[in-house]
Amino acid sequence: MQEYIDKAVESFRTLLESQLERQNRMEAGATAKDFAAMDKIVVGTVDGDGIGPIITKEAKRVMEHLLADDIAAGKVEIREIEGLTLDRRMEVGKAIPDDTLAALKACDVLLKGPTATPHGGAMESANVAMRRELDLYANVRPVNVPEEGIDWVFYRENSEGEYVLGSKGIELPDKLAMDFKVTTDAGTRRIARAAFEYARMNGKDNVAIVTKANIMKKTDGKFSAICHEIAAEYPDITAEDWYIDIMTANLVNPAVRSRFQVFVLPNLYGDIITDEAAQIQGGVGTAGSANIGDEYAMFEAIHGTAPRMLEQGLGDYANPASILKAVAMLLRHIARPDEAQKLENALTIVSDTLNMSGELGGNTCREFADAVMAEIEKM
Ligand code: IPM
Ligand code: MG
Repeated sequence: MQEYIDKAVESFRTLLESQLERQNRMEAGATAKDFAAMDKIVVGTVDGDGIGPIITKEAKRVMEHLLADDIAAGKVEIREIEGLTLDRRMEVGKAIPDDTLAALKACDVLLKGPTATPHGGAMESANVAMRRELDLYANVRPVNVPEEGIDWVFYRENSEGEYVLGSKGIELPDKLAMDFKVTTDAGTRRIARAAFEYARMNGKDNVAIVTKANIMKKTDGKFSAICHEIAAEYPDITAEDWYIDIMTANLVNPAVRSRFQVFVLPNLYGDIITDEAAQIQGGVGTAGSANIGDEYAMFEAIHGTAPRMLEQGLGDYANPASILKAVAMLLRHIARPDEAQKLENALTIVSDTLNMSGELGGNTCREFADAVMAEIEKM
């Protein structure tokens, strides 16, 4: 056992040093791209696995339609990035093959279909790897239920917390296992800043800081304290501390939930509560998700690859609403707010009229995209 302990202690030193190095790199800072001032923006599309290619194809068609003028003028290029399929990733034994990563990095923003991650084994999720490799530190997930007055935006920290060393825990065989959660000053400052900036720019006056700082005293304690430091720079915005357990209850409590506006929270709590929130909106298939960094940004459907739909031959009936919401977020991010608004309006209309049951007899993915473009044409 002593041998295992010695190895674990040694590996802990390496982990600590690598995390300190990461924090110092973040502290050095980066400047966010100004898309409005760019001559040319490259939008990469990644099909993914399962229903990914089907929904991404339609999302791409809608995006090309909306950006037709920009594309014709050479201001926007839409580029298909290949090689992020599960087969290819298994073949080369990497979450993102090197040539694919280089191709991704040659783009400014990305639209990504869902990617599969095998259960067990050593293969890391392509999603998590992409967030890390492109330093996409803010996972932004809006949830709206207008008839109930729900207008939430979640700012989930996307680069550290429980995820950054999730595959690097230690184990004393048959005795115990330990995972690590990492919260850095610089990592917290940038997600807090993103949340409060969003609140200020969008006329919101309340940000909920959601942690379990009564139990995770060091990491969540730091998260909350730094969020309050940043909050002090936004005197018009109230910053409230909430614990994650009661907040999950609040979201299903119609008497209080509509008062919440913006949430900022560590990675794993953000992962869990955004699925809950998406379900309140109508299902995880209805939400879009933005992964934003200073240099890159990636927009994706919040749902998975739906292998069962393909097995049953129902792939063409997949609902592209989630990835189309991601397209709207992408358009806003690259300073095309009018196109984004048109798409969002069209999505509301079409989601209410078409039958996206995912079954024979329902409407298809292609029909949905056609209907969205027809609505856009009327605007
Ligand atoms: C999400 C997903 C991912 C996560 C998975 C696919 C690794 O659940 O985007 O919320 O845990 O972050
Ligand atoms: Mg999740």
